[in-house]
Amino acid sequence: MAASIEGRLSVAMIEVSGGEDDAFLAIAREFSVVMARKSYGRTDIVRDESSPSTFYAVRHWASAKAAEACHADPEIHALTARLYDIARVTHIVNGVRRTDPMRLMLDDRRARVDPDRRSGFDRRMKDAGRAEGDRRHHDRRLGPRRMRGRSEDLDLVAAARRARENADARFSNFKVGAALEAADGTVITGCNIENATYGLTICAERVAMFKAISEGHRVFTRIAIVADTPTLTPPCGACRQILWEFGGNLEIVLANLTEEQASHRLKTLLPLPFDARLL
Ligand code: THU
Repeated sequence: MAASIEGRLSVAMIEVSGGEDDAFLAIAREFSVVMARKSYGRTDIVRDESSPSTFYAVRHWASAKAAEACHADPEIHALTARLYDIARVTHIVNGVRRTDPMRLMLDDRRARVDPDRRSGFDRRMKDAGRAEGDRRHHDRRLGPRRMRGRSEDLDLVAAARRARENADARFSNFKVGAALEAADGTVITGCNIENATYGLTICAERVAMFKAISEGHRVFTRIAIVADTPTLTPPCGACRQILWEFGGNLEIVLANLTEEQASHRLKTLLPLPFDARLL
């Protein structure tokens, strides 16, 4: 296939929540149908036989242009939002930007900070996905998940720790860093910024989210939040609202400057959210 010759290939690892395999396979079929109908390319789904409920989605793009069109497609965004509700998605290879297969293999997604080119996704659309957190009737993960630190979480936490160093917290001396991961693996960071009025202070999480939105990102997977406190610092109410409206049922990774980490789902931190569906 021309796609492979061009080397335009993306690979994502998909870890499906317990009992959701059938739902995942149904979504994967819908993805394939849209990819074929719109000539974006084709997707192979490979199950990892040694790790139940882990799949690899290998996407062979028809061209770089087709990949970009796919990333901007609201139909694809709605499917992606449904997918994120039942699975953790880790982008391993992004073959759209880098065409040289060697560079592709060496691509380090931690270093990728350039904005993606996604655009035209209207988050007020009925099926646009933010609020799709509600489609899941029960949360499988009850309470925070204590973590020793998976490598990708450590990367995101490390980015948040670095961002924290830029915090301007001259009034509270409470420095916070955040690192938000977009669907394509791009990491967008933020820190809290205070000013003399106090009230115009902006938290690290909102800085990260607004930076991300301003750079064209529209679909997100996780955010890491770091403060230098023995008890992990959760996002404030205002940030929960903004994260929900722009990021949906994100995974929230909390950490401090040592090894202490926990993971929550935003839906559990904001159980009865107000959002555009209610307007
Ligand atoms: N802050 C954040 O940046 N994120 C949070 O999750 C909690 C609070 C900031 C706001 C302010 O600059 C300082 O921490 C003290 O409230």
